[in-house]
Amino acid sequence: MIDSKTVKKIPLIVASNGKTGSRVAERFRASGLDFREGSRNSDIPFDWYDSSTWQKALDGISSVYVVFYPDLAVPGAREIIADFTHIAEICGVDHLVMLTGRGEEEAQACEQIVMSSPMDWTIVRASWFAQNFSENFFLDDILRGQVIVPFDDFTEPFVDADDIADVVFAALNDEKHRGQVYEVTGPDLLSFRETIREIGEVSNREIGFQQVPMDDYVQFLNEAEVPQEFVGLLKYLFTEVLDGRNAYLADGVKRALGREPRSFHSYAAATVETGIWN
Ligand SMILES: NC(=O)c1ccc[n+]([C@@H]2O[C@H](COP(=O)([O-])OP(=O)(O)OC[C@H]3O[C@@H](n4cnc5c(N)ncnc54)[C@H](OP(=O)(O)O)[C@@H]3O)[C@@H](O)[C@H]2O)c1
Repeated sequence: MIDSKTVKKIPLIVASNGKTGSRVAERFRASGLDFREGSRNSDIPFDWYDSSTWQKALDGISSVYVVFYPDLAVPGAREIIADFTHIAEICGVDHLVMLTGRGEEEAQACEQIVMSSPMDWTIVRASWFAQNFSENFFLDDILRGQVIVPFDDFTEPFVDADDIADVVFAALNDEKHRGQVYEVTGPDLLSFRETIREIGEVSNREIGFQQVPMDDYVQFLNEAEVPQEFVGLLKYLFTEVLDGRNAYLADGVKRALGREPRSFHSYAAATVETGIWN
């Protein structure tokens, strides 16, 4: 019989094919460290909305990079995180590294659930990702040559997903990051108009920018056949999260890694080389 205490435990990376999870997984592969992938399409499937998949995915797991999808602000997320935290503890996990968003009441409630569990925790509370312009919904608009947003009144310190991955990788591999809340942002406050101008400059393309009333924006999303749950989420994010409350820089990258975060310009310059904006 195998003594479970002698079996080496490994981390589980949820959404390991997503914007931050894939980068964390890359760092494990590059370091020759073992880990398990956790998404609906991984070898051992993990689905946030099917708790019967959790126990198998958590078997033999020491720590988890917790990336909820689509967003901790959606109805029901809090209950799912509470159930998952409980099951993870029962399965013998001893450390959760959780990705959350800034200025979202619902996300901060989920942080509290994790922080009050008997397991160790690290919270990585992120601003909007720069990669939303190359690996998410803004990419289609950029390729079309016209970006539409409902609000552009405030600035956001877009963070590079590579910085988030560096912080998460460090947190999963060094105990000194346990019990820390790292609020991670980029080093510049930018409006959407400024980010699109930057992307236009580095890619040498004309990209139009239009700010429209919220009702017109919702109509535009509906015409583009964006699923209703995402329309609701975008509406929420543009009204609740981008209302100025997050227009400040935070020092999480520096505190965790001892270096400054990557700038939006460096993200744009590196991303144009991939050809994604052609
Ligand atoms: N994007 C931002 O700017 C930002 C900023 C701050 C915080 N966050 C937080 O980051 C988290 C991730 O958001 P994201 O949009 O950037 O996604 P993402 O990390 O790119 O994750 C997408 C991946 O999640 C997996 N996935 C989808 N549904 C799943 C499910 N039911 N169970 C397990 N895995 C599932 C999918 O893989 P499969 O198809 O294989 O399942 C997909 O490849 C959210 O909690 C969000 O609030 C995002």
